[in-house]
Amino acid sequence: MRMLDLIIKKRDNLELSKEEINFIIKAYTEKKIPDYQMSSLLMAIYFNGMTDRESTYLALAMKESGDSFDLSAIKGIKVDKHSTGGVGDKVTLVLGPLMAACGAKFAKMSGRGLGHTGGTLDKLESIKGYNLELSEEEFVNQVNEIGIAVIGQSGDIAPADKLLYALRDVTGTVPSIPLIASSIMSKKLASGADVVVLDVKVGSGAFMESIEEARKLASLMVNIGTLAGMKVYAVITSMDEPLGYKIGNTLEVIETIDALNGKGPKDLMEVTFKIGELLLEASGIAKGDDAIKLMKEKIENKEALNKLIKLVKAQGGDVSYIKDYDNFPKAKNIIPFKALKDGYIEAMDTEKIGIAAMVLGAGRERKDDIIDFTVGLDFKKKIGDYVKKDDVVCYLHANLIGVDESLKLLEEAIKIGNKKRKHILIKEIIK
Ligand code: URA
Repeated sequence: MRMLDLIIKKRDNLELSKEEINFIIKAYTEKKIPDYQMSSLLMAIYFNGMTDRESTYLALAMKESGDSFDLSAIKGIKVDKHSTGGVGDKVTLVLGPLMAACGAKFAKMSGRGLGHTGGTLDKLESIKGYNLELSEEEFVNQVNEIGIAVIGQSGDIAPADKLLYALRDVTGTVPSIPLIASSIMSKKLASGADVVVLDVKVGSGAFMESIEEARKLASLMVNIGTLAGMKVYAVITSMDEPLGYKIGNTLEVIETIDALNGKGPKDLMEVTFKIGELLLEASGIAKGDDAIKLMKEKIENKEALNKLIKLVKAQGGDVSYIKDYDNFPKAKNIIPFKALKDGYIEAMDTEKIGIAAMVLGAGRERKDDIIDFTVGLDFKKKIGDYVKKDDVVCYLHANLIGVDESLKLLEEAIKIGNKKRKHILIKEIIK
């Protein structure tokens, strides 16, 4: 097989076979295909797309380029969720303990935040002592014992995806639906879960800005998972405003603790309950209204909060932070951002809001930037709320850097007008 022939085949919009895709991924991972040929193929895929079959073969080939987690020693149904990236998205932190309390096994490898989006690992690291690295054996034992473990990506998971993602990043080929879908699914297939719910974000703070694109991405990921023998559902949820009120690592853990104490913001709970309902249904634990009732019970009787405490304890974290969040170190300054005029909050540019938190130090612009866990944004108003001039829209929790830039970004991001808009959070469910 020659790479040149395969590039020409894709350039001419013909379907690549499983053997051809396997050949490309194996040879590229072994450095037998130069970057210039791979870039050319990626650009042909960017313009011509891929069939569902090709995308599935690509996801499987990338998964098989490295290690897979063997979770067969975990008793029960292993559930996982994945978000395509959002602002204020702390669903994993609320949902994980909740699923464990409902009897599912939440075995999760999470990622760090990059750019305007946050990452679960950074949020967990804001809890002093929390250890993100467990061996496969420790991971399996912990899930068997307490029903939950949340760790960083360990081992050599989908190395072909790492190489390809780096190449896509510098060749303008990241925003391709088949490439994004197979990249995400290669890692999900390697994670060893039985059931995955994908939270595909759409809107101003998301990868996918239109519902059509989000639908295509979600359906393709569900098809790849199903063709590969996994149970995968997807929800499409809005990122036209941040999820919940708090953005930034410590602040988001605090909002998580509130949520598990039954005081979670409505939108955060709506997404959590919807994903939870799908996971519980797919695991055969409970369905529809029964699933919602079960989750509400586990919050009311504090079993879900206790699972979070057990998780933090098992992974070496200081549980006094969870029991009383006044123990978290705080930012030195709390600065109000006030409404510039009377009216309704009509729109929020979520990407800009994410950047307004990032410039305070809550996120990374580059991979090796250091995060300040204490900083971030605490909103008091969101879309549809009425404000009077000088009412506080949000508080900046800040230390030394980024305050002026953050205030300027917030001013650009928050649109006040005379329309009371309704914001639809859960757009679609794909099974
Ligand atoms: N996340 C991934 O893992 N891969 C992509 O291609 C895009 C987002």
